[in-house]
Amino acid sequence: MVPSNSPDSSTPAELAAPYGNGPAAAGTGRAAGTAGSAGTAAAPKPLARVRTHHLHQVKTDGGHFAMLTAYDQYTAEIFDQAGIEVLLVGDSASNNVFGNETSLPVTVDELLPLCRAVARSARRALVVADLPFGSYEVSAQQAVATGVRFLKEGLAHAVKIEGGKFYADTVRAMVQAGIPVMAHIGFTPQSEHALGGYRVQGRGDDAARLIEDAVALADAGAFCVLMEMVPAATAAAVDAAVDVPTVGIGAGNATTGQVLVWQDMAGLRGGKMAKFVKQYADLRTSLSDAAKAYGEDVRSGHFPGPEHSF
Ligand code: KIV
Repeated sequence: MVPSNSPDSSTPAELAAPYGNGPAAAGTGRAAGTAGSAGTAAAPKPLARVRTHHLHQVKTDGGHFAMLTAYDQYTAEIFDQAGIEVLLVGDSASNNVFGNETSLPVTVDELLPLCRAVARSARRALVVADLPFGSYEVSAQQAVATGVRFLKEGLAHAVKIEGGKFYADTVRAMVQAGIPVMAHIGFTPQSEHALGGYRVQGRGDDAARLIEDAVALADAGAFCVLMEMVPAATAAAVDAAVDVPTVGIGAGNATTGQVLVWQDMAGLRGGKMAKFVKQYADLRTSLSDAAKAYGEDVRSGHFPGPEHSF
């Protein structure tokens, strides 16, 4: 079972404890208002971290876990407190944070600070960092060196790389170096030009290739196999072929976990959504309405009012 931080399993002290590292907590580990009363406030009980073996157990138990991307302090904190088991600092930051069209241009140096912010803000979730395009393909040594940077400087707990069985030796070298690796197969966005655009992978006879990829990567030590845009039946066959947990995005519901890009899940991004996206909120409209109301208040002289003035 994955360690829980749901209200049912938390003591009131745990629920009142600061998760964040913002002004209220200020790195003291005390709830707001307790500063200065050292020794009287109960120290917040640390939450048990989700580990790779917990995800394995979820698969053994026939359960499911949830994964979302996160790229900053507040989303990490919110998703962590909401009980999301795995946070992915995805290279999708490229086209969801940095304004690029694809995931290809984002660099290690751009992703590392985002990863650090997420890892510092998530008390329970397993934090997985994407190794960006160009940072692991050259050799196993390059992959180990980049993986080490993400664990050491980015404070990630694991990394994810894209690619099939060709990367089995790379995964083996990383795992030997102490870097937990999630393997990403099926549609791999870093190869979108090689794959001819966003296309479903593993249809028909191609299913066998994906199964081979997953088995080779799991045998090499990957703790999890993520599949993107794969027919549900193929994903189910892959899941059945490996002992490790699987995660799907556009891969049906037979995988152990599911992942979505948070801006898609919460309706922050505009434009056309992929078929596999389910939107659970409309943050774009909420934020836009808030910004419009604020702008109108400022222009009309209604903000700031006396209650906001010193
Ligand atoms: O970077 C990312 O967001 C991802 C998901 C699509 C799985 O790799």
